[in-house]
Amino acid sequence: MKFRKAKKEDVSKMFEILKINSPKYPKKLALQELNEMFSNSLIKPIYIVAEDKKEVLGFGGFIPSWIDNMIFSIFWVNINPKYKSQGIGSKLMRDLINRINKTKNVKAKMILISTKIPIFYKKFGFKKITAKYDRDYVLMSLNLNYKI
Ligand SMILES: CC(C)(COP(=O)(O)OP(=O)(O)OC[C@H]1O[C@@H](n2cnc3c(N)ncnc32)[C@H](O)[C@@H]1OP(=O)(O)O)[C@@H](O)C(=O)NCCC(=O)NCCS
Repeated sequence: MKFRKAKKEDVSKMFEILKINSPKYPKKLALQELNEMFSNSLIKPIYIVAEDKKEVLGFGGFIPSWIDNMIFSIFWVNINPKYKSQGIGSKLMRDLINRINKTKNVKAKMILISTKIPIFYKKFGFKKITAKYDRDYVLMSLNLNYKI
């Protein structure tokens, strides 16, 4: 299995996984969000896919904040349910954090995530910022080289 930057031709496969995992999320918006990596926007998300034998098993995205490019968000961490609980999501998370740490010309300081499953992100050092954030989501942060 390898982790690599998504290509335009991966978008349809990523979209299939997203539709299974988040059936209620507006489909047009989801597709726009995935295609945004290949747009002309000043700040674009980067999606990383987990690939094995040419099959996309899952993906996740990260993007710097507009207000401060040392603060990143990780979002849309999605593994195809067929391959859940095999450690792929954890490896993908470590890859995303490493890539953020190695972002060229930027000393990344903090990663934010909004999630319904804080237990999954705790493993990587994320801590809750708010007990309750938005409905059943909690906001979490990982301080990379910055102590508040
Ligand atoms: C969350 C997700 C990315 C984890 O990927 P994965 O490859 O299954 O992760 P790993 O195998 O590395 O780790 C699995 C562990 O994560 C935790 N976990 C994952 N999903 C969980 C959930 N919905 N509720 C509680 N714990 C969960 C459990 O501890 C699980 O261990 P278990 O399989 O022994 O129960 C994947 O389940 C997924 O795509 N879920 C749907 C989309 C989603 O919720 N994404 C997160 C958005 S913030």
